[in-house]
Amino acid sequence: MIIAIDGPAASGKGTLGKRIAQYFGLAHLDTGLLYRAVARDVLVRGAALEDEEVAVDCARNLDPGTLDDPKLREAGIGEAASIVARLPGVRAALLTFQREFARRPPGAVLDGRDIGTVVCPDATVKIYVTAEPEVRARRRHLERLSQGDNVSYEEVLALIRERDARDANRANAPMRPADDAILLDTTNLDIEAAFDAAVGLIKRKISQ
Ligand code: CDP
Repeated sequence: MIIAIDGPAASGKGTLGKRIAQYFGLAHLDTGLLYRAVARDVLVRGAALEDEEVAVDCARNLDPGTLDDPKLREAGIGEAASIVARLPGVRAALLTFQREFARRPPGAVLDGRDIGTVVCPDATVKIYVTAEPEVRARRRHLERLSQGDNVSYEEVLALIRERDARDANRANAPMRPADDAILLDTTNLDIEAAFDAAVGLIKRKISQ
C-alpha cells in the first residue's frame, strides 16, 4: 500500500504523514527533506542555489544517512529547498530514490508536493492537505517562536505566500492535487481532528 500526501507548507502534511504511517504500519518518507538536504549541500559547497550543475551533483550524491540533520528543519533551508526544487535535473535525480522507497514492502507513506502527480501516480490513496494561508502562517509562526526565532507573523505569512507561488507556478512537477486526490482542508482542524479525518478517508478508500 502506498499513501501519497501532498500539500503546501505548514498544511500539516508532515505530522499527518508520520502518524498515518505509524497507524498503518508503513514506512514514512518526508520528501521535503531530500530537497532540503540538496539545498544544504549546495550551500556547503559555496555555490548558488540556482547552479543546476552543482545541485544535480549534490542530488545524485545525496547521503540518506544525513536526513536526520537538525539543520534541515531550519526555516531558511525550507526556502532554499524550494529554489533547488525548481531545477528539473534535481527532481529527476531524486525520483528513483523516492520510487524505490515507496515500492519496498509493506509499502509507505510519502509526503511532499508531487507524490500523487509524479512520484507515485499509482498510489493506493492520495490526500491533498490544504489550509488557508493565514492559518498556516499562524502555525509556522508559533513553531518558529518556540524555536526561539523572534520573527513576526507578517513576515511568516509573506514567506508562506511567496513559497506557495514558487511551488505552484514552477514548470516542473508543480504543487497541485492529482485528479484522483481526496482534499482535506485543515483550516478548522487541529492535528488530532485532521488525523482522525485522514484515517477515515483512507479506510473508506481501501475498503472500496
Ligand atoms: O515543511 P514545509 O512544508 O515547509 O517544507 P517541505 O515539505 O520540507 O518542502 C520544502 C520545499 O521542497 C518545498 O517548498 C518544495 O519546493 C520542495 N519540495 C518539492 O518540490 N517536492 C516535494 N515532493 C517535496 C518538497
